[in-house]
Amino acid sequence: MTRIAVLPGDGVGPEIVREAVKVLRRIGVLFDIPLTFEEGVVGGAAIDQCGTPLPPETWSLCRAADAILFGAVGGPKWDSLPVDCRPERGLLRLRKELGLYANLRPVKLFAPLVDTSPLKREIIEGVDLLVLRELTGGLYFGEPKGIGPAPDGKGEQGIDTLSYTTHEIERIARIGFQIAAQRRKRLTSVDKVNVLASSQLWRRVVAETAREFPDIELDHMLVDNCAMQLIRDPRRFDVVLTENTFGDILSDEAAMIVGSIGMLPSASLGDGPGLYEPIHGSAPDIAGQDKANPLATILSAAMLLRHTLHREPAAAAVEAAVSRVLEAWYRTPDIRQPGPTTLVGTAQMGDLVIERIVKDCEK
Ligand code: IPM
Ligand code: MG
Repeated sequence: MTRIAVLPGDGVGPEIVREAVKVLRRIGVLFDIPLTFEEGVVGGAAIDQCGTPLPPETWSLCRAADAILFGAVGGPKWDSLPVDCRPERGLLRLRKELGLYANLRPVKLFAPLVDTSPLKREIIEGVDLLVLRELTGGLYFGEPKGIGPAPDGKGEQGIDTLSYTTHEIERIARIGFQIAAQRRKRLTSVDKVNVLASSQLWRRVVAETAREFPDIELDHMLVDNCAMQLIRDPRRFDVVLTENTFGDILSDEAAMIVGSIGMLPSASLGDGPGLYEPIHGSAPDIAGQDKANPLATILSAAMLLRHTLHREPAAAAVEAAVSRVLEAWYRTPDIRQPGPTTLVGTAQMGDLVIERIVKDCEK
C-alpha cells in the first residue's frame, strides 16, 4: 500500500489538489496500484488552525508517507508576517528537513497549446527541456540570514547568504547528468561565475563531475544570458542545471514557453519521500471560483507515479489524457485561445482527464 500525504494548502491549492487526487484514485483502480490518501494542513491554513505553517502532525504524516502531493501556500492574509513565520516556511521546511534537494521541472510544450504562448510558434514548437533546480541550498537557507542593525548605525541591514558546498553541488550535478543520459544527452549548467564565488565552485565541481559522464555534452551559461536564450531559442536546451534562486526565476520564465504557469508540474526528490507540486503559487485572486487550471497538479501526480512508484505506463496514461483533452479544445481561462474553445472550470477539467484515461484504457 502506497501512502500519499495530501497537503492542499492555501488559495487555489484545495481545488487543484482535489482534481489530482481524483485522477490518482481512478488510476489506482485502473492500473491496480493500491493507494491511500491522508490529508494534512500546511501554510496559511495551518497558521490559522494551529499557529504554525508546518504543524507536528503534518510533519509526522509527511515523514511516514511514501510521497507528498502538495498544492500551494501563501496569500495576502499572511503577507505582513515576518519571513520565518510565513506560510511559505511550511513548504521550505519540508523541502529542507526531508532532504529534497533535487527539483525536477519539466517544460514540455503540449502541441495544442502552441498558439497559447505569447512566443512565436517557430521558436517554441517542440520545446522539451527540464530545469533541474537545486532546492535545499543557496539564498533560501544560507546563514547568516535576517534583519539586524546596519553596521554604519543608520537603520537596518537585511542579509541572505548564497553558499554551496562541494557535496551539495556534486550530488545535484550527478542527478543532472543521469537525467540527461535518459534524454538528449545535453546539460547546460547555469551560474553567475563572473561575479559570485559560489558560482566559481559550482562551475568547477560540475565540470569535474562531468568526467564520470563522458557521453553527456556539457556547456556552462551565465544566468542572465540563459534568461535571454530561453526566449530566443528554447529548443537548444535539454537539461538546465542550476542553483535554487536561479531555478526559481528561470522556471517561471520557462512557463511562458508552454503557454501558462498553470501547466508546469514538479517533483522534489532526495533523501525523503518525493514531494510533488505545481510550480505556480496559490493564486488568491481566483481561489474558490473553479477557475484554476488543475493540469500542473495532475501532471505532478503523473510525476509521482513515475518517480516514486516507477509506474511508467500509468504516468504516461495521465500525460496522454491531458494532451488529448487539450487537443479537443478544452481550456481553463489561463489557456483559452481563439478557436473552437470550450471553456471549462477546475473540476470539469479534472473530470475530462479522467474520462479520457478511462476511454484509453478500454481500447
Ligand atoms: C516555487 C515557489 C516557492 C519557491 C515559494 C512558494 C516559496 O515560488 O516553488 O517556485 O520560491 O521555491
Ligand atoms: Mg517559484
